[in-house]
Amino acid sequence: MMHEKDFDICVVGGCGHVGLPLAIAFARAGIDVVVFDVNPVAVESVNSGTMPFKEPQGPELLNEVRANGSLHASTDPSVVARSNAVVVVVGTPVDEHLNPDPHAVPLAVEQLAEHFREGQLLVLRSTVYPGVTRLVEEVVDRLGLGIDVAFCPERIAEGKAFTELYSLPQIVSGRTDSAVKRASELFSRLTSEIVVVSPEEAELAKLFTNTWRYIKFAAANQLYMIANEHGLDFERIRHAITYEYPRAADMPGAGFAAGPCLFKDTMQLAAFNNNNFTLGHASMMVNEGLPLYLVDRMERRFDLKNSTVGILGMAFKAESDDIRSSLSYKLRRILRFKAGTVLCTDPYVTVDADLVPLDEVLERADILVVAAPHPEYRDLDPVQETIDVWNVLGRGVTV
Ligand SMILES: NC(=O)c1ccc[n+]([C@@H]2O[C@H](COP(=O)([O-])OP(=O)(O)OC[C@H]3O[C@@H](n4cnc5c(N)ncnc54)[C@H](O)[C@@H]3O)[C@@H](O)[C@H]2O)c1
Repeated sequence: MMHEKDFDICVVGGCGHVGLPLAIAFARAGIDVVVFDVNPVAVESVNSGTMPFKEPQGPELLNEVRANGSLHASTDPSVVARSNAVVVVVGTPVDEHLNPDPHAVPLAVEQLAEHFREGQLLVLRSTVYPGVTRLVEEVVDRLGLGIDVAFCPERIAEGKAFTELYSLPQIVSGRTDSAVKRASELFSRLTSEIVVVSPEEAELAKLFTNTWRYIKFAAANQLYMIANEHGLDFERIRHAITYEYPRAADMPGAGFAAGPCLFKDTMQLAAFNNNNFTLGHASMMVNEGLPLYLVDRMERRFDLKNSTVGILGMAFKAESDDIRSSLSYKLRRILRFKAGTVLCTDPYVTVDADLVPLDEVLERADILVVAAPHPEYRDLDPVQETIDVWNVLGRGVTV
């Protein structure tokens, strides 16, 4: 049974990887939250107290807010009309040709047009193509309602939601003082620091945040390949660079830079700048090229055609069940073409029927590749040759 009274906040797309943690965090802050999501399976899961995906602390905190009645989920868009504020956090992927879709968020808002009402606060939280806040303002203007529009990007990393929602400063932007004030008050319920900029500055700040990270991973991956080509272990070199040397302290290790955000946001920024983004495109070539590079190196060392290769870790990062844009799958595709047999395993991923247990992979594979640095692999001591660009096993990273 849905609550009879109005809600403080409706989170549109609130069963997703960032929408649900946000909805739970608001509910824990004493706010009455309703989630509107078009995915009935996820809505059902949330209403029965089960997280639809893995997020540390998620199960306990979801149970807490379900038990005290501060969070409900629904597939009925009319809950939007019963809420004082509406936060939109629907997905904003690029298409298969890497084109962003500037209409994803305005469309989601337009589809809810009949449910908006006078005086609401509308917060956009998806990562958007620059200019989308303006497009949404135009949609809202056409409704003729006094709605405050704010763009307040989400900057958490999956797996860290319930620490970062409280610790990261919140970027708040809006065209009017009222929008900025109301959005600032809302996010002050979660975090103590608010950074106010214009909507266009906030849109670029969010894209630059992810792009910056993507470029850093690309730099590490390119240096890894250079070292490797010369028979040197990048991890030993990285240790020499970073040890007690503050200016390089944040130099990342090598590894698959993947997932639903970094790549697509770098491509959104490239498209926004008429594809004049040498550094972004070069980063894409390096990061997306790493699986093929590894296979090429493996081909030189092993009789791949007659080998069984085991891939350890299919999620896009450690301790995650999220396989969206995971480079482990790109690796699998290449190896299925080049190797005799490919076996894949992952302790977290539940959505891939082709996975087999770790023990089976360890028993049957001639060569292993650690593709996601899950902690479960740290204590392994495999007898077969293991490609471990992450240095999870601590045996070095040369291939
Ligand atoms: N995943 C991350 O780590 C992360 C971090 C920061 C920002 N972001 C951004 O947040 C946004 C959401 O990402 P996500 O990873 O949570 O995506 P997601 O696919 O996990 O979640 C999106 C949710 O929106 C729902 N949805 C889609 N269209 C809808 C509509 N019209 N009305 C109602 N619900 C709808 C989907 O059913 C889904 O539950 C994206 O813009 C992304 O770039 C993601």
